[in-house]
Amino acid sequence: MDINEIQTIDHDVLVVGAGGAGIRAAIECAQLGLNTGMISKSLLGKAHTVMAEGGVAAAMGNVDKRDNWKIHFRDTMRGGKFLNQWRMAELHAKQAPDRVRELEEWGAVFDRTPEGLINQRNFGGHRYPRLAHVGDRTGLEIIRTLQDFCIHKGIATHMECTGLDLLLDDGKVAGMLGYWRETGRFVIFRTKAVIFATGGGGRAWQITSNSWEYTGDGLGMAYRAGAELIDMEFTQFHPTGMMWPPSVKGTLVTEGVRGEGGLLLNNKGERFMFKYIPEKFAAETADTVEEATKWLKGDKNARRPPELLTRDVVARAIKKEVEEGRGSPHGGVFLDIASQRPADYIKKKLPSMYHQFIELAEVDITKEAMEVGPTLHYFMGGIRVNADTQATNVPGLFACGECGGGMHGANRLGGNSLSDLLVFGKLAGEGAADYIKKSSQGKIDAPQATAIIRQATAFLNREEGLNPFVVQEDLQKVMQQLVGIMRLGTELQKALSEIERIKKDIEKVKAHASPQFNPGWNAAIDLNNLIVTAEAVTMAALTREESRGGHSRIDFQGEREEGLTYNNIIKKNPNGKMQLRKELRSAPPPRIG
Ligand code: FUM
Repeated sequence: MDINEIQTIDHDVLVVGAGGAGIRAAIECAQLGLNTGMISKSLLGKAHTVMAEGGVAAAMGNVDKRDNWKIHFRDTMRGGKFLNQWRMAELHAKQAPDRVRELEEWGAVFDRTPEGLINQRNFGGHRYPRLAHVGDRTGLEIIRTLQDFCIHKGIATHMECTGLDLLLDDGKVAGMLGYWRETGRFVIFRTKAVIFATGGGGRAWQITSNSWEYTGDGLGMAYRAGAELIDMEFTQFHPTGMMWPPSVKGTLVTEGVRGEGGLLLNNKGERFMFKYIPEKFAAETADTVEEATKWLKGDKNARRPPELLTRDVVARAIKKEVEEGRGSPHGGVFLDIASQRPADYIKKKLPSMYHQFIELAEVDITKEAMEVGPTLHYFMGGIRVNADTQATNVPGLFACGECGGGMHGANRLGGNSLSDLLVFGKLAGEGAADYIKKSSQGKIDAPQATAIIRQATAFLNREEGLNPFVVQEDLQKVMQQLVGIMRLGTELQKALSEIERIKKDIEKVKAHASPQFNPGWNAAIDLNNLIVTAEAVTMAALTREESRGGHSRIDFQGEREEGLTYNNIIKKNPNGKMQLRKELRSAPPPRIG
């Protein structure tokens, strides 16, 4: 193939992904005068950002004046079991309030306190009410605001365009090769820098809050280009996904329901979370020892209820209740706000949840309890980046938002994803702009481009082969059953050999018909990234022989001292195999430690 015949688009920088992080990064690039392109696998703003419903975490102190960035930093590090890249957690806690105020200037309409300030609510693991919110549609409002703002910035937005792989010139980014989903035609973006904001890879599991786009594209492309992945074992199972009907299993039920007073009950009507309060946690985070004791005794009026323990604790508790026969009819537990708040209040504070359950499950949450259970929601691990610039180890490649790893350590606190994407989206834009000032446009290497195209078209050109959807389902089953909330060494080993088998199956996948409007071909291409994601998570999970945050080992219960000393770093070795090394963790300096 003559690559001169392929459409080529020139930008200074290409942002891959048009969710919150991508749009925020693109805005920054455009404001700094860069010729900025942004591609979206689906449509501008159709992103997992909207699944962070309950609020954006920022220590503004509007509801409780005692809050400040240091306490937010501490909560984030505690929630992350101290494995967080401390500098990211510091920047995040310091800059989040400004990013929220900036959004308000750009038109976001947050709920207000009686005094007219941005209202903030309680969320798991946050010491004070810290989540600035718009009912239960905060992510949606953030995306809406960013979209409205970005369209006036001269950003070239390319929708329904999927990235296949980065193009490198002597190891540095020279662009990216992708294809238009509508026509199946290839396109080369010739750029000095690329910012990945592609989200996570939740679609490697069967039950997930992630929609079809989240196939680990940035993780796969970065890995193939030689970037490092950090702490991939830490995957977050949000405790409350819908359990019924099957077609919507996994759809998010916001933590905001519990933030507004919703209770978790088992089939005996017991508020079971009181049984699962880790002593250490209660002693560390309750206001006083009396407060901690109130929790332990089940005092209904305790300021922060046990339903708002961190997500890892709540998800594991639900799993245990179900396994021990105290679950709801469809394998979850009950989430009850109806008995706690008047119908008007529920409809005002949780309008999306009200409509979601009426429309999808025919359940009126102002009258009945919801059935909920854990759903794969978020990747704490991801592409390793420099905290201040979001640069990866591949010159010219930057990453932000969920696909960038390290900020959240072993477990993310709810609401920290929205502030993360705002803070690090901006920093990635600045980082890319600084890099571009000092670099020249690399050459597009024809053999590289041809190889990428050959690999993509092989799915179409094969005479016969396996159905891509069946292979994806196979992988999802392996990850759900063997790399779930509770992990076991022997099962992780088995998962790795299943992944090897599926890799061979991917080489036999056949997508029928032409490349235009071809969902089968799209699914086949996604497999290249899903498999990298699945292997990286499983390999890191097998290596970490302890339970910490979102990673729980049945065969290694509890945290181990050694576990705090390292981060797991994954990289492709020169013979193309995935390699993991443990790297000494950098601890916070005394000034903030
Ligand atoms: O439950 C939620 O609203 C999700 C928030 C988040 O993941 O940050």
